[in-house]
Amino acid sequence: PNARLVLDAAFTIAPVPRRLFGSFVEHMGRCVYTGIYEPDHPTADEAGLRGDVLDLTREVGPTVVRYPGGNFVSNYRWEDGVGPKAERPRRLDLAWHSIETNQFGLHEFDDWARKVGTEVMMAVNLGTRGLQEACDLLEYTNHPGGTYLSDRRVANGAAQPFNYKLWCLGNEMDGPWQVGHKTALEYGRLANETGKAMRLIDSEIELVACGSSNSAMPTFGTWESTVLEHCYDTVDYISLHAYYEERDDDPLTFLASAVNMDAFIESVISTADAVRARGRHKKKINLSFDEWNVWYISEFSGDGPKSNSEEWVPGPELIEDEFTITDAVVVGTFLNSLLRHGDRVTVACQAQLVNVIGLLRSEEGGDAWKQTIAYPFEQMRRLATGQIVQVVASGDKYDSATYTDVPVVDAAATYDEATGRTALFVANRSLTESSTLEVDLRGVGATAVVEASTLHAGGDQDRHATNRLSHDAVAPRRFDDYVLDGGRLKANLPALSWTVFSFE
Ligand code: AHR
Repeated sequence: PNARLVLDAAFTIAPVPRRLFGSFVEHMGRCVYTGIYEPDHPTADEAGLRGDVLDLTREVGPTVVRYPGGNFVSNYRWEDGVGPKAERPRRLDLAWHSIETNQFGLHEFDDWARKVGTEVMMAVNLGTRGLQEACDLLEYTNHPGGTYLSDRRVANGAAQPFNYKLWCLGNEMDGPWQVGHKTALEYGRLANETGKAMRLIDSEIELVACGSSNSAMPTFGTWESTVLEHCYDTVDYISLHAYYEERDDDPLTFLASAVNMDAFIESVISTADAVRARGRHKKKINLSFDEWNVWYISEFSGDGPKSNSEEWVPGPELIEDEFTITDAVVVGTFLNSLLRHGDRVTVACQAQLVNVIGLLRSEEGGDAWKQTIAYPFEQMRRLATGQIVQVVASGDKYDSATYTDVPVVDAAATYDEATGRTALFVANRSLTESSTLEVDLRGVGATAVVEASTLHAGGDQDRHATNRLSHDAVAPRRFDDYVLDGGRLKANLPALSWTVFSFE
């Protein structure tokens, strides 16, 4: 297969939104307990945070982290997780059929986020709770002091407010599995009134309304439309969630999943803009793609998220998918899709950070390592700076059982005027053949390759290889099968690969 790309600094889409490279920590399975928090672990700091996971998280570098859920938030009482640990209650978590010990809560998460150097995206419970408790949480986190709740925060050790800017008004409220599931009308009204009240406490906050849990939901489209009809002026974002997996032994469809992601994003933009036109609103609603990943969900449950654990225990092993080389290539195409839409998708959170469909894995008392999918994430977070470039692409396409006209080579790019650097991210979706890539870089003035690496199967590794046993088995390796001459790049992309270039 062949692909030809043209990049030109005159044709840009938008600045790279820094919040595009977010992740997610939910009180689910082993994401918090034995994930980021394990007081008895040999690397734990004085606060019980795992040092090895902290180090890996800093390397991967999520720019924002959503917390504390997820489905969990819809039956969570945030007050349970503050104050002396010995007095914190053990509770049933109905979302994941688990025991929540509350040994980790708001202050522990804030401490962790500061140590990582990441922004917090906080979610409020609009399942079992409502407006009052959302306001209480915001007063606790953002009000400087001199009131009952802000003084409780100070008494609990945080003299300065946490000052969180980004707030999710509930989670997946369209899903029948959600504790406190609502109709679009019920939720749209609740989101509007809750958001309005929260803004009276802090006018600087940015609010995310729940969109559909995925584009296959029967209410997809009408949900977004009805919700936004009720809360358009109050909120800033509408959320999207999507998980993909390889089904029916059909890798070609799986590899084309970003075609679905592109269409999903474009449909939500159209829906939000239709509400804008109808309501004669001035502002545009942006998109917060605050859960996305590969998830072998069909191995977990047939009809949406629910627990597969019989016992009520703290921190059960839940959805600890082991990601392969194929998954890493697909995740690369998701990142490309998000970047291509960075004019409207200005927040995105890969789900989740550790163990639970994690970028990272950790063993209780043992090792921590990066899964294959952490590498494309880390590379794009590090290299995508400046402006998103509109990639003009032509080349070979294929049809899978589900999608037609899928480009064999998927690409996205950025150009940073300040540094003069261009970053190019390319996936070769062909399972068996290398692809010839030609890129006209004259419009970005590229004369040299600063960095080139590729992640692909080969040697004794097949496309199902993971980092389970040998923790750095799958990682990007130096790539040198290219020539750059007179601003034109010619490269041979290995079969089933994710390749990254930085030019200057
Ligand atoms: O990320 C796992 C779960 O997937 C989240 O709790 C929920 O929001 C989604 O359905």
